Amino acid sequence: MSSASLSLDGNNFELPVITGSEGEVGVDIGKLRAQSGAITVDPGFTSTGACESAITFIDGEKGILRYRGYPIEQLAEESDFVEVAWLLLYGELPTAEQLKVFRAKLTYHSMIHEDMKKFFEGFPNNAHPMAILSAMVCSLSTYYPESEYEETHDDNIVRLIAKVRTLATYAYKKSIGQPMIYPQNGLPYCANFLHMMFAVPTEEYTPNPVLVKALNALLILHADHEQNCSTSTVRMVGSSRANIFASISAGISALWGPLHGGANQAVLEMLQMIQDDGGDYKKWVQKAKDKDDGFRLMGFGHRVYKNFDPRATILRKMSDEVLAELGVNDPLLEIAKNLEQVALEDEYFVSRKLYPNVDFYSGILYRAMGIPTNMFTVMFSIGRLPGWLAHWKELRDSDSRIYRPRQIYTGAQARDYTPVGAR
Ligand code: CMC
Repeated sequence: MSSASLSLDGNNFELPVITGSEGEVGVDIGKLRAQSGAITVDPGFTSTGACESAITFIDGEKGILRYRGYPIEQLAEESDFVEVAWLLLYGELPTAEQLKVFRAKLTYHSMIHEDMKKFFEGFPNNAHPMAILSAMVCSLSTYYPESEYEETHDDNIVRLIAKVRTLATYAYKKSIGQPMIYPQNGLPYCANFLHMMFAVPTEEYTPNPVLVKALNALLILHADHEQNCSTSTVRMVGSSRANIFASISAGISALWGPLHGGANQAVLEMLQMIQDDGGDYKKWVQKAKDKDDGFRLMGFGHRVYKNFDPRATILRKMSDEVLAELGVNDPLLEIAKNLEQVALEDEYFVSRKLYPNVDFYSGILYRAMGIPTNMFTVMFSIGRLPGWLAHWKELRDSDSRIYRPRQIYTGAQARDYTPVGAR
């Protein structure tokens, strides 16, 4: 085992080194404070590993993403979302029997308690569906309270994956003033989502197989991304032994931000704005480069990927195919491609290694599928849920300690209190 050493004010500290299964190297500073009194500082956690994890591997320089060792390209092309969810949760591809049972459980648990429908009535019609989703997922804990001594969380994991579609589509139906549509047991996972989203009681609805295939691939591409902001949030909350619903609800809130999952909504709004402004995409590239202008090219850049985002590569190709199959001609796709071309050749973006990320093309696809813009981040949540759950499970199955970072205090030094009249 190799080690690292740190020299601080003339004192040397030996630090153990951890090597991952893909050769990644981490310096373990866990005992540094006890030995030296000092901590390490890394705002934004650029060089900090919060845990060891066996779920997802990313090589940002090479544009590699693998779930449990399986390349994302193979899973997106050949698997389906439910199978990938099992893989993330339990570490291996399921046997035919395991998959059959898992699918049946997801069907069996797809309804929500009838009383929960009343919660939806209380929200204003223009409520953002991410706010509703986060609140509803946390509310599930009131129906399925966790025992402190529960050995397996598998039932609640199934409940969450099954019910998240129902909660998401109810939020949408509420926002457009249509009756909520119950899940149908004869439909598989993604088809059932489309049914609850788009069916109306007065007409027959048959989910389009092109949409079902595209949705499976989109959800697979979003299913996990190791220690991103929302997953770290889920682990952080879970580390306090908060229940699974509260932990996932916190992850949904973290995902909502425009620098994270909220970027897919922001990308579409940006493309629409460029089109409404006359379509001069070069002007907006200039604005994104101007440090005095707060504008950023949404859907560009990534903390980890510094070459290309493999998910964006898959989605770019997929959006061409799906739009052609659906017969959709979206001018926003043209703007997106032109924007991408200009940015990829521009010194500002090249030198900072800013490339299109997963959110750049996912919105175009969701739009072609008829999903409204404010539901895009909800779609991301449905996709990311198995990843969050796999991390929560990994954390709780280990003997993890509560997450509790330190800080460097920069405020006032000790001083005496003076009563208000004496100030
Ligand atoms: N447009 C213009 N400039 C940018 C952009 C952008 N989209 N992203 C980064 N930069 C510049 C930034 O101004 C900085 O320049 P300088 O070094 O001159 O100060 C440099 O690139 C590094 O940026 P950073 O903000 O320090 O990078 P970060 O790793 O902290 O942030 C990011 C990563 C994804 C938050 C950021 O690139 C961004 O805001 N992108 C737009 C939002 C977005 O698309 N988010 C979705 C991420 S992928 C889905 C997910 O996993 O959440």
